[in-house]
Amino acid sequence: MLIIHGGTPLEGEVQVRGAKNLVSKAMVAALLGTSPSVLRSVPAIRDVEVVTGLLRVHGVDVELDGDTLYMDPTSVESAGVEEINVHAGTSRIPILLCGPLLHRLGRAFIPDLGGCNIGGRPIDFHLDALREFGAVVEKDAAGTHLSAPNGLHGIRYELEYPSVGATEQVLLTAVMAKGTTELRNAAIEPEIIDLICVLQKMGAIIKVHTNRVIEIVGVDELKGYRHRALPDRIEAASWASAALATEGSVFVRGALQADMMTFLNVFRSIGGAYEVDDDPVDGGIRFWHPGTPLKPVALETDVHPGLMTDWQQPIVVALTQADGLSIMHETVYENRFGYTSELRRMGANIELYSDCLGGTPCRWGRRNFLHSAVIAGPSKLHAADLQIPDLRAGFSHLIAAMAAEGTSRVYGVDRYITRGYENFEEKLLGLGAKIERPVTK
Ligand code: EPU
Repeated sequence: MLIIHGGTPLEGEVQVRGAKNLVSKAMVAALLGTSPSVLRSVPAIRDVEVVTGLLRVHGVDVELDGDTLYMDPTSVESAGVEEINVHAGTSRIPILLCGPLLHRLGRAFIPDLGGCNIGGRPIDFHLDALREFGAVVEKDAAGTHLSAPNGLHGIRYELEYPSVGATEQVLLTAVMAKGTTELRNAAIEPEIIDLICVLQKMGAIIKVHTNRVIEIVGVDELKGYRHRALPDRIEAASWASAALATEGSVFVRGALQADMMTFLNVFRSIGGAYEVDDDPVDGGIRFWHPGTPLKPVALETDVHPGLMTDWQQPIVVALTQADGLSIMHETVYENRFGYTSELRRMGANIELYSDCLGGTPCRWGRRNFLHSAVIAGPSKLHAADLQIPDLRAGFSHLIAAMAAEGTSRVYGVDRYITRGYENFEEKLLGLGAKIERPVTK
């Protein structure tokens, strides 16, 4: 639990390191190499610890030195169901080990997946593609067992939806499958392009064509890589939104304009100000509230290059301070507005609808999911006791508590926030936030 005394503008500077949603996948890619890999700019977050544990049970020697991770996969070995199951429910990454383990060992076991509870989050695309590659998939009470009695061969495959994880699954499997793979309707998020860069350094042949088509020519062997992870654009946007909601000013060192273009357009439309410093070594983006009223907007989340679903929650908190009616249509996940009930208790005026409001009809419209929000602002937020439901929503609760008058208690920070935000308490204190941990007797 964190105690937050709100009402203080956040002022100062924070550093963002490598993106959680690339680092964890690049760690999995290291399994495919015949020699060690080195990954730099690795954040100290729990998801990295979880993947470290998963690699270690499979015989990979993993060492962290500062923010550089060394991974030696030369002695990869099968792990027992019990050892792997220690990691059940902790993250969604285990599903991505399938291809690399099938290539290295001929079999794989995947425990029940964890990750944030923001929708059904099925893995049907993953398993379907793996079967096409030639994997045999068997489920039992313990988890999912996979084998590849005849090896894995290239496929022609079209995703029903440009899923980030399923695209990564196909990439990590196709790079060493026999023959060529053509993936259509692929996700093309910057983290996926960075994963492609990692795989290319390892010796893979991957062509990104127009119209979401990716072609992968399978190779017989991949070696280790040296790579600096791209910066975390979700964390960067979280600090930007915190600056706006608290009427402060935050320089986010490491934030990259190119990967945040859509967010920057939204930030400016709302009335926020920013300035890009593109120095390659210590550049970043300064975000601030210019002192004029914030403006309402109609937005919808989408796959890249659209507005990221993980930017939605911090933006909604900032929109509670905009002068008028805003709309947020969530099209990626069916259940990503649960956190707004806590914001309502703080005085925010937010209503949820099952219709596709303000934009294009999406997959959830006819299925009665509350996936559109109307935010009427500005609302004076007041302190409350808040229960964090998931990672990104959790950070938005922190932002709301910092923007509110009075003292809030936020529960669940260690369980959720530490999964994806490095040293967030130190960073908050450095920005002048008035936070404290309860004194334990
Ligand atoms: N989907 C299916 N079947 C599948 C896979 C996905 O129906 O087999 C659906 C999902 O249910 C969802 C949509 O496709 O409605 C998109 O899911 P996607 O596969 O793209 O998401 P993911 O790979 O599970 C990653 C990030 C999420 C981020 C999404 C979208 C990681 C570890 N997670 O999830 O990040 O929201 O892409 O960009 O990379 C976070 O960091 O807090 C987080 C949730």
